[in-house]
Amino acid sequence: MAKIIGSVMTSHVPAIGGAMAKKRQDEPYWKPFFDGFVPVRRWLAEAKPDVAVVFYNDHGLNFFLDKMPTFSVGAAPEYRNADEGWGIPTLPPYAGDQDLSWHVIESLIENEFDVTTCQEMLVDHAFTLPLELLWPGRKCPVRTVPICINTVQFPLPSAARCLKLGQAVGRAIETWEQDARVLILGTGGLSHQLDGERAGFINKSFDLEFMDRLAAEPEWATRYSILDLVELTGTQGVELVMWLAARGALLGKVNEAHRNYHVPISNTASGLMLFENRA
Ligand code: DHB
Ligand code: FE
Repeated sequence: MAKIIGSVMTSHVPAIGGAMAKKRQDEPYWKPFFDGFVPVRRWLAEAKPDVAVVFYNDHGLNFFLDKMPTFSVGAAPEYRNADEGWGIPTLPPYAGDQDLSWHVIESLIENEFDVTTCQEMLVDHAFTLPLELLWPGRKCPVRTVPICINTVQFPLPSAARCLKLGQAVGRAIETWEQDARVLILGTGGLSHQLDGERAGFINKSFDLEFMDRLAAEPEWATRYSILDLVELTGTQGVELVMWLAARGALLGKVNEAHRNYHVPISNTASGLMLFENRA
């Protein structure tokens, strides 16, 4: 049977791609951010996942405002990246795992999550950059299953619904008959707002409380509506629902193995957490 070994939650700011391409990791601006990933990579080298299930939000590369599924799951043999206009290098395709994709899709629909299935799917910076941070130099060794949650076009799914989606995905993975080691990723957040009068808004005290409570008490954040979360964390800070989905997928005993928090990276409070999942 498949085993969920843990999860990594991280921000996904496009400028990270430029910093990696220009080898700026050791510059004072970037070092506190990139250094956060060293213990995660050490853990991954030991934990050796076979597959990564990635909760993230597409920002207009695959889905645009005209057609916006609330929840969607990739079921493609591979996932291509493309130019989003950020001026960052386009990355080579990522391998899919169609067997796991269809198993998750069937299980979700049976459990009343009526997801959109995507047999073709472009993956944007929110998918590619976290994988590049975990396995730099285009060396991603895992097969992937992308799961998109809409945080771009209102109305958005509630934090409670995203946590439940993650739990349903976790139950699906645990009933997959393959002997695979599965890593869960959740990418987005933490607090940031890119547009309007509050552009540049960051809420450090909320972010830290969210991180403090995520392992033992993920339900804490579900007390807030999406509009509350926009107010508390910024219009793009709502991406933190990906962290809730990823946390939800860990159904065992959860241990926080590492965290980092650094303000700002571009306009974003960048957060990173690593959770181990024990049976
Ligand atoms: C930034 C953050 C994001 O989450 C994103 O998707 C795009 C840009 C930023 O802070 O620049
Ligand atoms: Fe984003």
